[in-house]
Amino acid sequence: MNKKAEKNEIYNIILSRRSIRRFQQKKIPMSILKKMVNAARLAPSAANLQPLEFFVVNKKELCSKVFETLGWAGYIKPKWTPAANERPVAYIIILVKNPNKNPWYIRDASIAAAYITIAAESEGIGSCILCKIDKEKLQKNLDIPEEYIIDSVIALGYKAEQPVIEKLVDSVEYWRDKKDVLHVPKRSLDEIIHINKF
Ligand SMILES: Cc1cc2nc3c(=O)[nH]c(=O)nc-3n(C[C@H](O)[C@H](O)[C@H](O)COP(=O)(O)O)c2cc1C
Repeated sequence: MNKKAEKNEIYNIILSRRSIRRFQQKKIPMSILKKMVNAARLAPSAANLQPLEFFVVNKKELCSKVFETLGWAGYIKPKWTPAANERPVAYIIILVKNPNKNPWYIRDASIAAAYITIAAESEGIGSCILCKIDKEKLQKNLDIPEEYIIDSVIALGYKAEQPVIEKLVDSVEYWRDKKDVLHVPKRSLDEIIHINKF
């Protein structure tokens, strides 16, 4: 493959990634989960302080212990969570060690989360970044030592849904149609770009 084709491939992977909340119950090989963490390992880090560590969960009992602490798709009413046969099959939990020593850790964690989701998409794996977490419960459920804080959770699995993008008209709220397809409004490029002048 030539360089240009490779570049376009990465761009298309970035464009095709959507937050996936319904998953096939098929195992993700540990080698692929490690690749995702490796992508995050090499992400930019403020002052190169590298305060992040990554807790990979793929055992069924532990996945349940993560799942019970998560809040899903807040705009969907009535309250919605993935059905028992469509839950994530793995999670990567982004941890920050000694957060008080690093004022930039949220940016590092956000970039790491993005890298993980893009690495997942490149493997055909769906992902969803979650910040609505009962962090205290999750920390206890997984015996995470107290010098770490939980930043976010990335839910993972092979996709059992394919959300579609809509032009944002008057609401940012995503919705599910009668066939259960998720529609996600996005602002247009023209609306958000300022070229040489405001
Ligand atoms: C910082 C952050 C926190 C998020 N937290 C949650 C969450 O707790 N639960 C959830 O279902 N989705 C969560 N999402 C996913 C967003 O709802 C999703 O990115 C947004 O609707 C746009 O859809 P897209 O990712 O498919 O482009 C979060 C995304 C980000 C970036």
